Amino acid sequence: MDEEPSNPESPDDAAESRRSLSAFQRDATVTDGGLREQFDREWPDCWADAAALLEWAEPYDEILEDDDAPFYRWFVGGRLNAAENCVDRHLEAGRKNQVALRWEGKRGERRTYTYHDLHREVSAVAAALRDLGVEEDDVVTCYLPKLPELPITMLACTRIGALHNVVFAGFAPDALVERMAGTDSSALVTCDGAFREGTAVNQKRKADAALAELEATVPTIVVDRLGPENETRLGPEQYDYGTLVERFDGADVPPVPRAATDPLFHIHTSGTTGEPQRMTHATGGYLAGTAWTSRTVFDLSPGDTYWCTADLGWITGHSYVVYGPLSRGATVVLAEGSLRYPDRHRPWEIIERNGVEVFYTTPGVIRTFMKWGESFPAEHDRSSLRLLGTVGEPIGPDTWEWYHTHVGDGRCPIVDTWWQTETGAILLSTIPGVDETKPGAAGPPLPGVEAAVVDADGRELPPGEPGYLTLTKPWPSMLSPLEGDRYWVLAEYWQQFSDRRADTWRYFTGDRAVVDEDGYVTIIGRADDVVTVGNRRLGTAELEAAITAVDGVTEAAAVAGSAGGDTDLYVFATAAQERTDRDRLRGAIRDAVVERVGRFVEPAAVVFTPELPETHSGKTMYRVLESIVDDARLEDTEPLRNPAIVGELETLWESG
Ligand code: WT7
Repeated sequence: MDEEPSNPESPDDAAESRRSLSAFQRDATVTDGGLREQFDREWPDCWADAAALLEWAEPYDEILEDDDAPFYRWFVGGRLNAAENCVDRHLEAGRKNQVALRWEGKRGERRTYTYHDLHREVSAVAAALRDLGVEEDDVVTCYLPKLPELPITMLACTRIGALHNVVFAGFAPDALVERMAGTDSSALVTCDGAFREGTAVNQKRKADAALAELEATVPTIVVDRLGPENETRLGPEQYDYGTLVERFDGADVPPVPRAATDPLFHIHTSGTTGEPQRMTHATGGYLAGTAWTSRTVFDLSPGDTYWCTADLGWITGHSYVVYGPLSRGATVVLAEGSLRYPDRHRPWEIIERNGVEVFYTTPGVIRTFMKWGESFPAEHDRSSLRLLGTVGEPIGPDTWEWYHTHVGDGRCPIVDTWWQTETGAILLSTIPGVDETKPGAAGPPLPGVEAAVVDADGRELPPGEPGYLTLTKPWPSMLSPLEGDRYWVLAEYWQQFSDRRADTWRYFTGDRAVVDEDGYVTIIGRADDVVTVGNRRLGTAELEAAITAVDGVTEAAAVAGSAGGDTDLYVFATAAQERTDRDRLRGAIRDAVVERVGRFVEPAAVVFTPELPETHSGKTMYRVLESIVDDARLEDTEPLRNPAIVGELETLWESG
């Protein structure tokens, strides 16, 4: 870069950020600063760039068809297969002995799959599924923890043109029933159990309970995770995964070419408050989007070692553990179990042992690392790292600094990637070989993506004014709902800010955000989290942004409750470890809220807690906090990642 950074905070900062950018840039794949302009000029044809990263069985005729907007269709006429793109083509490219997957089990087990191994096992499972009656367009539900058999089964499904529907293994039978019934699943793949901090937990019992509730019997494949010392009884229509793989070893299952617009998989949105919704992605656009962002944002090329901590039950695991990195021919690290077991060195040992170059996680995980302390990463060799990423929620400045300094040694760029289950792939992010980073801001829209922050009437707001984040152009990896889901998808995402008569479509992200003079977008939070206090509706996201801006506060959640008779505002906050003066912090939080919204909503109480209750994908569960404030019974804690915090919060609440 020979240009000066646009907004240096201080000469030292600017110099440092320029240095780290150029060190990374020397070897970066994408360094073309003119990419955004080029994509704007050539849109939508620019997206041929992404399609070109894939192997097509038949070329497409049309990049984008908008006859049925907002149900856009990408790469129309083209045919391709996802498993072929993630596996077979790497064999043909002479990379059959390159490692595709490095798995680290909870009990210290290690397994390595080359692309050749992957091809062999994916083919065997594909043959087994077919033998069990699974056909093209059928849905296979996967209810598995982070085992290699999960990505293998996902790829086996896509190889034969079946859709996978991955359900987070930690969910209870009810959630499985709902998601299997809602997708009309014709097979299930699960496992006997899992080790949790050393003891065996029965996964199959949960699967069996769900199967008993479903009307139809479906063939079920059971992976043996617990070993011979834990015998599992298989019922009728239940098959041992290992036996099937042996039986179909060497099977030749040619990948089924799918139309680019055919569905690739179902996944359900997390739903902190509402019901889980069935989401669908289309084969061509989704693969193009995940491959292109894996190259452009994560700088992944064949042979690069990459680790993303997400579970495969979430979209992050689909896009950036399986499809994106494998389509790039990368080496993917998959770590089963908790990052603190057997001890807090585990994440750094995984990075050290595998030579991880690109690491992708959430601000929540980084905050946990911060609490443990910098001595843990400091004891390990992290020199292999060259790029760090985060996703899922805004990353506060303290967390960003810590990640940058103690994980990246001040030399690795950080990409703060904004996207959603619905968007399929990253849409807002810096390109690490091109753009300067601004801690706290996700970054500008990627090339070809157009975002606008608007007010409640859909009028575009000037820089600096917070509003609703919308997307004003379609993008390849966008949601592609089945016919039967179109009605609610229209209502949920497209109705609010589109002008249907003018055929102008704007996708509403559900987020609040603010854009700066350089086009960098800072996400404030979800727009639908609203508290009503004294007849005024207040966005929790903005209150929380004001609270976390208080020095010493890391996280905050604002809820309304009527503990004192009237409806009042209550604040739950986590404090940075080293600060102890809680009363001063309380005062500062009160001042921040009052300054933001006025005296009438001064919080009735500010409660400090070690953690906020959050879902498995890191979203604050307001429901839990509300039930504590209102002393109500707490229903369904299944979505909670940290259920132990509930008891702790109750104690804190009663004593505070
Ligand atoms: C919501 C989507 C897509 C990956 C994981 C979550 C929030 C996502 C960021 C970011 C601030 C972010 C948004 C978004 N979010 N990335 N970099 N900065 N907020 O997927 O469960 O569909 O959630 O996560 O609120 O709408 P998801």
